[in-house]
Formats: sequence, structure tokens, C-alpha cells
Amino acid sequence: MKEIFGLEDEPALVVGGGFGSGRITAQLLAKAGARVAIADIDGDRARTVADEIGGIPVVGDITTVEGATAIVDEAHAALGGLTRVANIVGLVKMGAFIDSDFALWDAQLRLNLYSQMFVCQAAGRHMLRERGGSIAMVASVSGFYGARNQAAYGIAKAGVMSLARTLSDEWAGSGIRINCVAPDITAVPRLTETMPMPEAEALAYFDAMAVADGVPMQRFGRAHEFAQPLLFLLSDMSSFMTGQTLVVDGGTMVHFPHSSGDRKA
Ligand SMILES: NC(=O)c1ccc[n+]([C@@H]2O[C@H](COP(=O)([O-])OP(=O)(O)OC[C@H]3O[C@@H](n4cnc5c(N)ncnc54)[C@H](O)[C@@H]3O)[C@@H](O)[C@H]2O)c1
Repeated sequence: MKEIFGLEDEPALVVGGGFGSGRITAQLLAKAGARVAIADIDGDRARTVADEIGGIPVVGDITTVEGATAIVDEAHAALGGLTRVANIVGLVKMGAFIDSDFALWDAQLRLNLYSQMFVCQAAGRHMLRERGGSIAMVASVSGFYGARNQAAYGIAKAGVMSLARTLSDEWAGSGIRINCVAPDITAVPRLTETMPMPEAEALAYFDAMAVADGVPMQRFGRAHEFAQPLLFLLSDMSSFMTGQTLVVDGGTMVHFPHSSGDRKA
């Protein structure tokens, strides 16, 4: 089974791999046989996951060109190459556009878009020279919708999907693929662990919100449910896909809100 992923012994980097969906992505890559570097701004997190999976911790901040390049170069040197890169890092800060503080916009674009550009450029230099690789980035459905109070984040995530399309066109001839996942609201540990209730109750709370919002699958996603598509995009299972975004939303985007009649279940 493992061989269908084509990840055995491949050198892989998970940026933001110290927690949540990044940690799960690192675990999945290791299970599929990859040699994994776990990069995180939080050194304890990077080291904990590295210990869990027999990987290599890399500590740094991807919000500057220098920081992102140092992370990618360190992972490349430690692994003796780099053919797979997952980038998980991102965080929404909500706020009405009319009240925008452009320092906040700067920070949102830096964290959610520029950092992805910096990592792609640093990884691309190695992959173009070594002729091959797969990069998978985390976008968001906020990059498709008019997402109220998320203008900066939505623009950044739309930019990430655009970046994947452009780089896929520029780099396909060198055997490099670049794709994204776009999750809807996901009950990741960052959210559930900060809620003042046991995990099962926190998940039930999220799922009640999803039902009220009309999500066809009647729940919100879990962290592993966008880590798994990331693994697919990094692996040879998606060998003829590039520039694409997989939407992970329990059917929300294909649901016509004005449909009439009851659902069958
Ligand atoms: N949870 C949702 O509802 C949802 C929906 C759509 C998209 N997303 C996207 O999912 C991703 C986050 O996934 P998660 O919540 O599982 O992860 P997380 O935010 O819990 O963990 C991300 C890791 O990245 C590290 N990190 C943060 N800033 C960094 C930096 N500058 N340099 C290096 N490392 C850094 C953190 O220390 C952390 O360990 C983001 O891209 C987010 O936009 C989430």
C-alpha cells in the first residue's frame, strides 16, 4: 500500500509542522516512508514532533525572506535534498474593512501570503536545480467567497491559490507540481484545545454551528481531513495534477442555499 504514494525515502519538509494539521501532515508523511523535517517558529513544538516521528526539527520564522530561506536551506542540507514541501502556516485576524488598520493588513499578508511566496521561492531554487518536487499549500475557502470581516485574509488566501497556478505553469517543465487545499471551518486543536470544555463537547459545539449554517455534511471538518488531501497532493497519487485547489468543506460550496424540500437524511 505504502508504495502507491511514492514517498518512500523522499526528503520532505512540513512548515508549521509542530502543531495541529501540520503535525498530522508530518506524521502521515513519515508513515508513508518519507524522511521529514519539521519546521516551526516554536522550537519545542518542532522538537516534540521530530521526536515522535524520527524527523529533523528546524526552528525559524517564515515571515521574512531570510527566515524562510534559512528554514528551507537547513532542511535541504539535513535531508540531503528536498522533493516535498507542505506549508501549513496561516491565521485569520477578523475585522471590518471600513475600520482597517493597514498595519494589520501588512501582518496578514505577510503571514498568509508572502511567507508562502518566500517558502516557494527558496524551495523552488532547489527543486528547479534538482528537477522535480511537489509543493502543497494551505489556502482557505475565504479566498473564494466574499468572506465578511476577512478582507485581508481572503485576499491573501486567493493570492496563495493564484501563486500555485502561476508557479505550476512556470515550473511544470522541470517536473515540479504546486497545489493547494482550501478548508472551510475546521475544528483544529488550536481551536478545540482553547475551549473551556472537554474535546468531545467542543467538537459537538462546532458541529451544532455547522448544522445551523446548513453545511450539507452537518459538521465541520477535523484537522486530519485537510492533512490527508495534503498528503495526496504531495504524493505520486496526484502525479498529473498541478495548479489545483482541493476544497475541503463538507459540501458547503456546492450547496444551493435556496434549494427547497427536505434532505433525504
Ligand atoms: N481552522 C480553520 O477553520 C481553517 C480554515 C481554513 C484554513 N485554515 C488554515 O489552516 C492553517 C492552520 O492550520 P492549523 O490551525 O492546524 O495550524 P496551527 O495554526 O495550529 O499551527 C501552525 C503551526 O505553525 C507555526 N507557526 C506560526 N507562525 C509561524 C511562522 N511565522 N514561522 C514558522 N512557523 C510558524 C505555529 O507555531 C504552529 O505550530 C492556516 O493556513 C489556516 O489559514 C484553517
